[in-house]
Amino acid sequence: MKNQTEQERWQELEEALQRSERLAAAGQYSAAIMHEINNPLETISNLAYLAKAEADDAAKVREYLAQLEAELANVIRIAKQTLGFYGPAEALRPVNLAEVAESALVVHGRRLSAKQVTLVKRLVDQATVKIHPGEMLQVLSNLIANAVDALPEKGTLAIRLRKCRNEVHLMIVDDGHGIPAPLIDKVFDPFFTTKKEQGTGLGLALSKAIVERHKGRIRTRSSVSKGRSGTAFRISLPLHDAV
Ligand SMILES: Nc1ncnc2c1ncn2[C@@H]1O[C@H](COP(=O)(O)OP(=O)(O)OP(=O)(O)O)[C@@H](O)[C@H]1O
Ligand SMILES: [Mg+2]
Repeated sequence: MKNQTEQERWQELEEALQRSERLAAAGQYSAAIMHEINNPLETISNLAYLAKAEADDAAKVREYLAQLEAELANVIRIAKQTLGFYGPAEALRPVNLAEVAESALVVHGRRLSAKQVTLVKRLVDQATVKIHPGEMLQVLSNLIANAVDALPEKGTLAIRLRKCRNEVHLMIVDDGHGIPAPLIDKVFDPFFTTKKEQGTGLGLALSKAIVERHKGRIRTRSSVSKGRSGTAFRISLPLHDAV
């Protein structure tokens, strides 16, 4: 009986620690995110003012509203990217990572077939990790989205999952345009993007934070050499049976 109480106390402590880790990570990003959201919000406020001031000129009002809509879409995109990270914590549970990878592929199914991407899958059956499945789905989905963005028509996307000692390694490899060497250290920085208004630059920063919160690591290698360009991301997570 005493043992059980101690175990419960440990669990409480562990949960408290996880909560404080979440908050610390959240603090790191909030300043950058507020800055990024502030600019479009100021523009929205100016556009609303102009629309009111020129309410008699329907054409002008329509033009201001169209711009306002575009700026709002920007804010919504940033909020959506961020929600998976700041949203309510779901339970940690043992999950087969192969299933999460399959779900992430389904999410991007339409874009993969539109680009006629060749998919090479090598997933071991039993690779159980203790994760928040929704968060990990977001990570894999971000990596696949980036790969599809970088791939040419008829490119190749390879997903490999294997066990390596007491870890599970998931590799997502594309033969797209690659990341130039001077930029490789920047890709995990919040708001670093080469996609102009098409990207928030939050995908990899959030993915890294999520993987590290799961006591894992995320690494990347890339080449822009003609004829053999491409990018590989590797996520390593502790194997559940080994924890
Ligand atoms: N597989 C890849 N191939 C080539 N470049 C990549 C790849 N993955 C990431 N990058 C580079 O890293 C940058 C940052 O990626 P990240 O996912 O953080 O943001 P994003 O994709 O630009 O925006 P969002 O995730 O909101 O769509 C990208 O803009 C791109 O330049
Ligand atoms: Mg991205």
